[in-house]
Amino acid sequence: MDAARIEEVVGEFVSLKKTGKNYKGFSPFTNETNPSFYVSPSKNIFKCFSSGKGGNAVTFLMEHERLSYPEALRYLAGKYSIEIEEKEQTPEEIREMNERETLFHVNAFAQKYFSEQLLKTDKGRAIGLSYLKEREFREEAIELFHLGYAPEEWDAFTSHALRHGYKKEYLVKTGLTVEKENNRAYDRFRGRVIFPIHNLSGRILGFGGRILVKDDKKPKYVNSPESEIYNKSRILYGLYFAKNSIIREDLCYLVEGYTDVIALYQSGIQNVVASSGTSLTVEQIRLIKRYTSNITILYDGDEAGIKASFRSIDLILEQGMNVRIVLFPGSEDPDSYVRKHRVADVLEFLDRQSTDFITFKTQLLKKETSTDPVKRGALIREIVETIALIPDVIYRTVYIRECSAILDVPEPALVNEMNRLLRKKHRKKQQKQEQPQEPPEPTEYPAQLQKDLQDGDANFQERDIIRLLLNYGREEIVFRGHDERKKPVDTAVKVANFIIGDLQQDGIEFKNPLYQRIYEEYLSAHHNETIPDQGHFIHSDNDEVRDLAVDLLSSPYELSKNWINKRIFVVTEKERLKYAVETSLLSFKAREVEAEISRNNEKLKEISDESHMLQLLREQKELKDLSRRINKKLSRIITK
Ligand code: UTP
Ligand code: MN
Repeated sequence: MDAARIEEVVGEFVSLKKTGKNYKGFSPFTNETNPSFYVSPSKNIFKCFSSGKGGNAVTFLMEHERLSYPEALRYLAGKYSIEIEEKEQTPEEIREMNERETLFHVNAFAQKYFSEQLLKTDKGRAIGLSYLKEREFREEAIELFHLGYAPEEWDAFTSHALRHGYKKEYLVKTGLTVEKENNRAYDRFRGRVIFPIHNLSGRILGFGGRILVKDDKKPKYVNSPESEIYNKSRILYGLYFAKNSIIREDLCYLVEGYTDVIALYQSGIQNVVASSGTSLTVEQIRLIKRYTSNITILYDGDEAGIKASFRSIDLILEQGMNVRIVLFPGSEDPDSYVRKHRVADVLEFLDRQSTDFITFKTQLLKKETSTDPVKRGALIREIVETIALIPDVIYRTVYIRECSAILDVPEPALVNEMNRLLRKKHRKKQQKQEQPQEPPEPTEYPAQLQKDLQDGDANFQERDIIRLLLNYGREEIVFRGHDERKKPVDTAVKVANFIIGDLQQDGIEFKNPLYQRIYEEYLSAHHNETIPDQGHFIHSDNDEVRDLAVDLLSSPYELSKNWINKRIFVVTEKERLKYAVETSLLSFKAREVEAEISRNNEKLKEISDESHMLQLLREQKELKDLSRRINKKLSRIITK
């Protein structure tokens, strides 16, 4: 319990953003549009204000991952490399384990069995492995995704498991074994390659098994049935492997099948998940939302794919997320495409082909409707209906504008139609809830933030950067990058040069005149390729500069708030320094952007000129995107 840092444990499942002493994020327990989930590192607890749940790291794992108490401890031990001794379980003990735990155990046992069959038996290698090799699955991917092979026999797995003390009852409950009326038991997966399905902590919930040769009498895939641990609508295939990359790229690719996930992953595009077989659900979208607000759908270009993408677009927008769409040409899917092209070309293709939902819908629907005015009306309504699903008024306004331009329909007509839909939706909701509700409002910035800004906390950010310049300007921090061959390359940069470069790139200056003055001295020294030393400021003939320098230099450990929580796991001085510089710059920028957003909000309240307003709304949307990106980056560094 001492080792477990609540923000690190929760941070694996929820994208957290630093606010003052605490972290904040979207509740993983409810579907909320305003974040009300808090993590307090100093108290080592979490609190979810929308569901009322709260507790420590163990409670969180038990609630969120549905782990038992011992499982949660085991998870933490694994995460913090703490060894716990566990003796091998006897058949007696296996029986005593609680049911869910047992199902997980059975699945883990089955996965090992299927892997062994694939890699260690002659038949498995000759049939299963050669099939996977033929499809160009690489060994690392086969191992990572735990692919396996189920032999073409009636009950090979079932009798193997029974021999090892697993009760038939549980084999049936996981769906690995199917029971006939005559009490005979046989294997669900026979003569298939096996794709295990992992939950967010990497445990196996179920399996998909693909047939090896085309056979019209048999289904292409056989899947585990739902069970006490496997709920299909709440699982995305590949998410366990993809989550870090999704956070890093701030984007999630959504594909249709197991093979698409693995093919993209092994080519280097790792931010990819599949809803595999079921049509996309709200729960699945919410899973992605914990890591990013951006989804790009990669579906087949056939009719089924288009229909599915229309449904998915609406669901994603309704969750307040951004969606883009790529349809693959002809009979291609992501798996076949990635095998025929180099990864750089695939990325280029995805970038070039992906369209926003309005363009996508319009292009598809326009073809058949360009001449028929009735159909054209239906198309317009269809698109406005989709826009009306977006919770944020600013985004709605910007999209209406875009729609008006693309479809060549006057904007007021679209706005009227949208407002009609919104009123209708609002009425429906009220009827359902009986309690009268305020109509949906644009997202406001939290009161605390506004207060911080007025209290001059912005000054703190500026001061922190000056503090870093004075104390560490001449020291080096090291950044790890990659060369063309993906080999790691380290680059050392002086702190002052890094800060100046970073601020100049964004055209940022200091509001506080004293800080700006000191910064300018660094700037002019920078032009001469030097960095002022500390004495320069300590001996300045300006009283204010001298006092500030002494102040900041004599308390080098007046660390930024961001440091405090990190002290336990940041190891070297250099690492700490780099961390401090990065978080300080990002917090500074986050502040700037947030201040700009509130200023814009004020302006928006007063404005009446329409074209000016649209300009502002568009700026506001860009600022919000920017703010989101900065905070993502910040929370990524903090929770890394
Ligand atoms: P696809 O037919 O696109 O399969 O179904 P795939 O994953 O691309 O497989 P390959 O490339 O033909 O080998 C997409 C997903 O739909 C589910 C599976 O999860 C599959 O990955 N599915 C498909 C089933 O569950 N059952 C089926 O019979 C077919
Ligand atoms: Mn395929």
